[in-house]
Amino acid sequence: MFPDRLARAQQAIAAHLAARLAGLPDQPVVHAMRYAVAGGKRLRGFLVLETAALHDLPVEATIDAAAAVECLHAYSLVHDDLPAMDDDALRRGQPTVHVKWDEATAILAGDALQTLAFELLAAPALGPAERRVALVASLARASGAEGMVLGQALDIAAETAPRPLTLEEITALQAGKTGALIRWSAEAGAVLAGADPAPLRAYATALGLAFQIADDILDVTGDADKAGKALRKDAVAGKATFVSLLGLEGARARAEALVAEAQEALAPYGGRADVLRDCARFVLARES
Ligand code: IPE
Ligand code: IPE
Ligand code: MG
Ligand code: MG
Ligand code: MG
Repeated sequence: MFPDRLARAQQAIAAHLAARLAGLPDQPVVHAMRYAVAGGKRLRGFLVLETAALHDLPVEATIDAAAAVECLHAYSLVHDDLPAMDDDALRRGQPTVHVKWDEATAILAGDALQTLAFELLAAPALGPAERRVALVASLARASGAEGMVLGQALDIAAETAPRPLTLEEITALQAGKTGALIRWSAEAGAVLAGADPAPLRAYATALGLAFQIADDILDVTGDADKAGKALRKDAVAGKATFVSLLGLEGARARAEALVAEAQEALAPYGGRADVLRDCARFVLARES
């Protein structure tokens, strides 16, 4: 059930992005945008579609929001991989954008993906204007100086900090770096339906933290070919992560507890949320 639903979400998002990017100028920056949004698990877009389906909204009425968060996420990865940040040459099993083109193209392709995300959220197909505005405002907040950008800034600063971060500091860093976009994605379905997003917020908060702990575990124990990116980088960069602070077993136990917490938060939706329950398990079991 879950693998099938994820595959369908991946296809729908890829098709929508391809159509949306098809009309843009035949320029390297646009080629780089197409390249940067290709592949990936589409976890965030999946969460948008699946939480919307939970509220009986069809794919056509939500796909712009799913595509939007995948554009925003792709921009964050293109910039994360730049020499000034993580300096990575491989992403999703392919050369990173600045390696395939150049740094200027990577910066600009990321910028344009970010603005495209907000253009997509303005699409009339998403329904009443006030709901679209709510999503625009909340995605801006989740992405910016109190969300993803804050988390990324704290992460980079931690590399040269005089002492390793504490567990509390890492949890706060993660809530911005990875948590904010995952939370936005899981709440989007309820916002689009005009429903209460509180249970989904609780689900996504636990899910986002489990996701980042899994990323930290993968960095230590994963297979780079399967992950499609360079691993064993956190220790070299001297980063405090959930693994360096809790140990591998401790990190796994913490993530397991968070998966259970995420699943319990879905109780108000009953059996209809089983796909989202399986998604929580997937976040921890994934190899990429
Ligand atoms: C990777 O995100 C970067 C982090 C936020 C840890 P994903 O693991 O969701 O990357 P893709 O989109 O599937 O490639
Ligand atoms: C990237 O985190 C998070 C964002 C792009 C917001 P990481 O630097 O840990 O992700 P990977 O390991 O490169 O995918
Ligand atoms: Mg990084
Ligand atoms: Mg990185
Ligand atoms: Mg990482």
